[in-house]
Amino acid sequence: DPTLQQVAASKGKFFGSASEVSSLNEAPYAAILGTEFGQITPANSMKWENTERNQGQFTYSGGQSIVDFAQSHSQTVRGHTLVWHNQLPGWVSQLPASQVRPAMENHIANVAGHFAGDIYAWDVVNEAFNDDGTFRSSPFYNAMGKDYIAYALRAARAADPNAKLYINDYNIDGMGAKSDAMYNLARDLKAAGVPLDGIGIQGHLAVQYGFPYQMQQNFQRFADLGLDVAVTELDVRMQTPSTTQKLATQADYYRQVAAACAAVTRCVGITVWDFTDKYSWVPGTFGGEGLACPWDDQLRPKTQVIDAIRTG
Ligand code: XIL
Repeated sequence: DPTLQQVAASKGKFFGSASEVSSLNEAPYAAILGTEFGQITPANSMKWENTERNQGQFTYSGGQSIVDFAQSHSQTVRGHTLVWHNQLPGWVSQLPASQVRPAMENHIANVAGHFAGDIYAWDVVNEAFNDDGTFRSSPFYNAMGKDYIAYALRAARAADPNAKLYINDYNIDGMGAKSDAMYNLARDLKAAGVPLDGIGIQGHLAVQYGFPYQMQQNFQRFADLGLDVAVTELDVRMQTPSTTQKLATQADYYRQVAAACAAVTRCVGITVWDFTDKYSWVPGTFGGEGLACPWDDQLRPKTQVIDAIRTG
């Protein structure tokens, strides 16, 4: 059978996975990561708390391990993430408002500057919106208003002129208030000449919530603004235990996401938020839910899911 990356590449796209640095040393895991996928996202190692835990002291070793693994397997890297309200060290929240912009720009200059040349695309700003489409309160929004997004994108372009610059969020998979807000923001940023190259659609789906409304049309409207679209963190969770019906729905959701991306030329690829239930974030975040990934917790492929992604 062709690998997921080979199937995607035949359509001019990539297929990737998020990974923890610690997983790379596990031979059975690394064997799958190194063969099935064409792209890696560091699940945690490039986040602010791991790159600048103390102000002005930068740590790149975890991210560098991901980059090194990817390069030795001819894979690209999506950098994740420069500006986010989560996994943000306490010192940022404690800064006086006037110091948040320089701290943010310094963080971006250093982290994106360090990895410049090795990153295909950066999730520059992550999760800027509330579910109703209003801007989320964060140290960045509270200090700068929505202009923090433009400042961050400009700083990222200056630090790494060759990386594609993304804004990334969840619950923008289909049409709705939150994706409308993202659309309006992207349109305004493009009109203002702010460097923005793509929209990251996280894609954290759940069988019990139904499939997002008009996913393909939603991807297409972003593409029509002159932007790339990527599904950056795909997983399809369910309430455990599984049933035959839940597993069938899950496989169908994976298939529908692959089909939506295949139908939109500027949908450049899909990344799963780790490929195995062994390292999925779902059970630790959503009580009673799990089984979200294409490989099980024993690293056995779920052929129903993988075939669905291939079929698209
Ligand atoms: C998650 C990681 O997978 C976990 O290990 C960590 O404890 C919390 O963050 N949206 C994102 C990702 O953009 O960065 C999150 O990753 C999952 C939700």
